[in-house]
Amino acid sequence: MKKNITLEDVRSDPQVDEYIKRSTEFLRLYHYTDHGIDHSNLVSERARYLAKEIGLSEKEQELVSIASYVHDMGNFLDRKNHEYWGALMFHSIFQERLPAEDMATIMQAIATHDNYRAQIVNAVAAVGMIADKSDVRRSRVIEKDKAQIARDIHNRVNFAATNNRFEANKETKKITLTLKIDTSFVPVMEYFEIFTYRMVQCRKAAQFLGYKFELVINDFKLL
Ligand SMILES: [Fe+2]
Ligand SMILES: [Fe+2]
Repeated sequence: MKKNITLEDVRSDPQVDEYIKRSTEFLRLYHYTDHGIDHSNLVSERARYLAKEIGLSEKEQELVSIASYVHDMGNFLDRKNHEYWGALMFHSIFQERLPAEDMATIMQAIATHDNYRAQIVNAVAAVGMIADKSDVRRSRVIEKDKAQIARDIHNRVNFAATNNRFEANKETKKITLTLKIDTSFVPVMEYFEIFTYRMVQCRKAAQFLGYKFELVINDFKLL
């Protein structure tokens, strides 16, 4: 059997599909923002875009899009350690269909995406990290009840993010996340309260790729 899979193989795999759907249902019980199919698709597309813009190989672009698509599928077992569950689940599903080298790269990318003590270990993990941590948007808020949204800082900040633009520039060596935050709904400080460590990870990941990570909120360059 040829050992090679594409994003389409992964997206059409019934186990992957079930685990992502279950994760959506599981996290809904805890009033989390979207970690389901929309988040998977958005992060995967953004990661592929970034990988292409910075000149990673076609094979790496595919690995990046796969790792980014499945990175949150371990959430249905438990939010805690979901990065490790996800990496092991990916291995159990695709071990016969991927060479060990590519398997190890993807597993590392999944396992490190939410471990803030982890070093950035490879380019696939670096790109996936940036794509995941930059997904801040109003449509990520699943909760419909305004009072419930107001109670949780993650829901508040995502709800306040009315615009999100993501660009990579090979000439200037900059990766830029530009956000519009509705400050009538949430002060920009709240964004930093929950996103500082995520932005630090983005900066580390960008450095690994030889880039600078820039964050612009409401026309102010903050990073
Ligand atoms: Fe995650
Ligand atoms: Fe995620």
